[in-house]
Amino acid sequence: MEEQKKKKILSLIQPTNTPHLGNYLGAMCNWVKMQEEFDCTYGIADLHSLTVRQDPVKLRGQIKESYALLIASGLDPEKSTLFVQSHNPHHSELAWLLNCYTQFGELSRMTQFKDKSAKHPDNINAGLFTYPVLMAADILLYQADMVPVGVDQMQHLELARNICQRFNGVYGDVFTMPEGYITKATAKVMSLQEPTKKMSKSDENVNASVSVLDDRDTIIRKFKRAVTDSETEVCAREGKDGIINLMSIYSGVTGKSFDEIEAEFKGKGYGDFKLAVGEAVADKLAPMQEEYKRVSFDKAYIESCMKLGAEKAYKVSRKTLQKVQKKVGFIVF
Ligand code: TRP
Repeated sequence: MEEQKKKKILSLIQPTNTPHLGNYLGAMCNWVKMQEEFDCTYGIADLHSLTVRQDPVKLRGQIKESYALLIASGLDPEKSTLFVQSHNPHHSELAWLLNCYTQFGELSRMTQFKDKSAKHPDNINAGLFTYPVLMAADILLYQADMVPVGVDQMQHLELARNICQRFNGVYGDVFTMPEGYITKATAKVMSLQEPTKKMSKSDENVNASVSVLDDRDTIIRKFKRAVTDSETEVCAREGKDGIINLMSIYSGVTGKSFDEIEAEFKGKGYGDFKLAVGEAVADKLAPMQEEYKRVSFDKAYIESCMKLGAEKAYKVSRKTLQKVQKKVGFIVF
């Protein structure tokens, strides 16, 4: 009984490139924390990643890596549902149905669509356009109450809410209205090289972002090279974007407040501070990296987890999909 009353959390990540520190602090850490309190479903959005041309061999590797990282970060495939989106055909099926309840105008207004079409003018495919509808299907299929997302996905979540309301308006309460939930850290981790820009997995400058699988020396070296300012004081004053970024990373991994950090580094230089941040980040990531090595080596285990996740996901989403099919007038056996 108690299981049923738990609020449902759902989120997916795209398997493109290894997650960076911002993804870790913003998404992965929170996913693990929520696992105890809520009924969680987490997935690898491989269908979404096809909206940009992918190399098949690399993509397969990234899906496995992303999935193994979920487990390595502390998510339990028994307690939560950990699945790969393409293993459950209901996502594509519901996405088609929802396409018919989404307006061309709405999709044209999505800023991510506009940005990505500007970036890839030779591949403005229909999937790129209807991407948010697939995301709405992901969310609504599992009757999610809460959806942790990065700020950049908030507009898509609003669209999912609009689709939900529209559908329920016509057919009655079919879908649960999802709430978006932004974690502060997601908005906060900036590039180590250009601290006014968000840390990005696809940054050309390798020193700008820290991958969760970077080794200790690499992590420390990247922090040593982090761009700061010409002052010497570790404090969160306006204009000190580089230092503020390092302070929020340090705070994110140690749990210390900004006041505590300022006190800790009073009278010390940026060199000491950068080293401390680098070491703290490396310490924080070490257990997950160890676990990742172990898990990713065990192919049979990963595969059994994927199968379990797919089965669990399928069972839940089937109920929703059948309900939708009945409502719109299809013949359901
Ligand atoms: N579009 C999201 C991103 O790029 C990933 C995603 C796909 C997602 N489906 C989702 C996030 C459903 C939350 C809920 O970050």
